[in-house]
Amino acid sequence: MNLVICLLFSCFLRHVIARGAQRSTSLSSGFRNDSYAAITRHLFEENQSQPSIDIARGYMTNSELEKAVKEFGQRCSHISRIYSIGTSVKGVPLWVIEISDKPGEEEPEPAFKFVGNVHGDEPVGRELLILLANWICDNYMRDPLVKLIVENVHLHILPSMNPDGFSLRRRGNANGIDLNRDFPDQFFPWNDYEDARQPETKAIMSWLREIHFTASASLHGGALVANYPWDGTQDKRRNYYACPDDGTFRFLASVYSQSHYNMSLSKEFKGGITNGASWYPIYGGMQDWNYIYGGCFELTLEISDNKWPNAKELPTIWEYNKISMLNLVASLVKTGVHGRVFSSDRGRPLPGSITIKGINYTVKAGMAFADYHRILVPVERYEVMAAVPGYKSKATSIWLGEEAMTVDFILDPGVTSEGTLLQSICGCNCGHKSRHLLVDYFWGIHFEVYLVLIVVLAFLCFLLRRRIKFNLLKHRQSPKRSVMV
Ligand SMILES: *[C@@H]1O[C@H](CO)[C@@H](O)[C@H](O)[C@H]1NC(C)=O
Ligand SMILES: *[C@@H]1O[C@H](CO)[C@@H](O)[C@H](O)[C@H]1NC(C)=O
Ligand SMILES: *[C@@H]1O[C@H](CO)[C@@H](O)[C@H](O)[C@H]1NC(C)=O
Ligand SMILES: *[C@@H]1O[C@H](CO)[C@@H](O)[C@H](O)[C@H]1NC(C)=O
Ligand SMILES: [Zn+2]
Repeated sequence: MNLVICLLFSCFLRHVIARGAQRSTSLSSGFRNDSYAAITRHLFEENQSQPSIDIARGYMTNSELEKAVKEFGQRCSHISRIYSIGTSVKGVPLWVIEISDKPGEEEPEPAFKFVGNVHGDEPVGRELLILLANWICDNYMRDPLVKLIVENVHLHILPSMNPDGFSLRRRGNANGIDLNRDFPDQFFPWNDYEDARQPETKAIMSWLREIHFTASASLHGGALVANYPWDGTQDKRRNYYACPDDGTFRFLASVYSQSHYNMSLSKEFKGGITNGASWYPIYGGMQDWNYIYGGCFELTLEISDNKWPNAKELPTIWEYNKISMLNLVASLVKTGVHGRVFSSDRGRPLPGSITIKGINYTVKAGMAFADYHRILVPVERYEVMAAVPGYKSKATSIWLGEEAMTVDFILDPGVTSEGTLLQSICGCNCGHKSRHLLVDYFWGIHFEVYLVLIVVLAFLCFLLRRRIKFNLLKHRQSPKRSVMV
């Protein structure tokens, strides 16, 4: 009997702990060399002379954008939620639209984010993102690709990261800082001092600590190309600088460029894609930071040669990009390796790490469901490994086809000291002291109260199990090959 209570209680506790746990990304910190920062930022800054006022005619103002976001939230409340990740220097809220069949709920599904208007004078992205959200809302029941996205992805859309820059019609924010140079950099630590960072940058950084994004794209103007990491080189020279996932990124960037009206026909960029550093190196960029510190595969999409095309052209530019945007998001469920990691003793989800042999990069499983989503180039053989402290790692060789594949891992507890510790913290192994305390406590209460407690806990466990099963089933609905390891 004691054991039953203990198991029920631990089951309940674990659920509570799992739900409450937040993924936290550790960020390196250090001191910023201010003179260096000032010089470099200046070097990379573009000519910021004010263009004529008419340039933004037909584009949404910041308050019109806010209105569009809120109207969308009301019109599409069944598949969306509106929230803000912070405010700009001038106090403009950074609104986000989340689109999903269960907005705001954690599910074992990948999350994708679009970030528009990083540079204030590149406003096409913010217009397209509002069109994208509305198009998804209008075609959810009609278009299978949209349905796939809404049901299997959590899509977060930040139309404008830099509303102040937009209203000033310039690249930088209200403090004149280029936000795409304001993130911590892998080679040059001048940006590592968090307090000196811009509020817009900080908002993005804490957003990534809260939501476990699998991939993302930021939208820019001034060229037509899908840019992928690395953006910077160690020696500051301009040349191809491949990140560990070079193949994966070339695949993702090509998903965009090949679905685009004419991006892949570029004469300047073969296939309409480019390694950032081979185009021109930048430091403190958002893209590399996402991949290194956020566990998120980010592309930088240049979607229009002209930064301020006549607003009449916006619907056409939207048509050129529509399928690319949808295909990029859908690629998170249509391709790659997905699954969950469990412990063999009680089937508990283990938020472990997933690595691919030959690629020096780790993808982390989610905290609540231990689901992982590993984008990979299709039609190749891979060795997938799952590791969790205190458990014996497992590896399996798979043949990944054109479609996504599910590989679940069930790990056996190891015998390391770390493992024992983990077990006693998370597993309620009812070690002598805690058991006695618990039992004494329960027998001290009236028997009926005791009975009610058992029933409530049993019901909670039943609910939790049903939910896990339901989610597992749901996760499998897409036509994936599935493997249990
Ligand atoms: C800061 O950077 C400048 C320029 O590279 C260098 O001359 C200076 O010594 C650096 N200062 C510190 C404190 O590192
Ligand atoms: C910046 O733009 C102004 C006005 O168009 C021009 O006179 C100036 O030469 C430009 N500066 C640079 C560095 O290109
Ligand atoms: C793509 O089409 C647009 C609009 O017709 C045109 O301005 C642009 O030059 C084209 N780009 C390429 C690479 O073909
Ligand atoms: C793997 O990447 C890390 C940085 O993320 C680096 O420190 C390490 O040296 C790399 N290992 C190999 C074998 O390249
Ligand atoms: Zn830009």
